[in-house]
Amino acid sequence: MRLDKFFASQSLASRKEVKELVKKGLIKINGIPARSSDMTIIPDRDMISFNGKTISYKEHIYIMLNKPQGVVSSTEDNLHATVLDLIPPELFRKGLFPAGRLDKDTVGFVLITDDGDFAHRILSPKKHVPKTYEAIINNSISQEDIAAFREGVQLKDGTLCLHAELKILKPDVQPLVQIVIHEGKYHQIKRMFEARGKRVLFLKRIKIGNLSLDDNLAPGECREILHKELNQILE
Ligand code: URA
Repeated sequence: MRLDKFFASQSLASRKEVKELVKKGLIKINGIPARSSDMTIIPDRDMISFNGKTISYKEHIYIMLNKPQGVVSSTEDNLHATVLDLIPPELFRKGLFPAGRLDKDTVGFVLITDDGDFAHRILSPKKHVPKTYEAIINNSISQEDIAAFREGVQLKDGTLCLHAELKILKPDVQPLVQIVIHEGKYHQIKRMFEARGKRVLFLKRIKIGNLSLDDNLAPGECREILHKELNQILE
């Protein structure tokens, strides 16, 4: 990989900036000042340092975002802010995209990455990675509703959903419930409740696989997902 591309890929400096840093002798390859910004390095083998600090190379980045309401889960939108607009410069990289979408009014855990293979693995319907949500519903939940979710709800357009778990967390006139689904159809949870004659008033994704949304993230905040946490997603 070219040295300047390496720096750009890690969000450390633009290609133009790398030229300057090389001139100033601030970048070293295996302890020797870099010759030029377009020299070839092998990220997994060479030790690259910048200003005396060794850079640990990451091929891909994985970000946990607590999506607020009103933000769309796409990479571009002419009208609304997108989830990518919420990524701070130090985590931003070319090629980031959300691995799985939430509706504009749904809040919570969105995973953003530049790793297409990983996204494919967690989104593939064959993998059935569970996604856990909390929701407030406009009407009380019956044992029949719970059984229907367990067996697989048939949506109004005839689509049959896979089995899902529905649990009442707080009984009320507008109960708080938890739902676990194993696929990701368009507006799935809203349509599942609609098929039961109910309406979702609030929806939040709290978990992907076994990885929970970090309680310390306020709406709109994000952080990098650690390597050991990545395994929890696919467990
Ligand atoms: N189900 C929905 O209806 N909306 C979402 O955003 C996610 C799951």
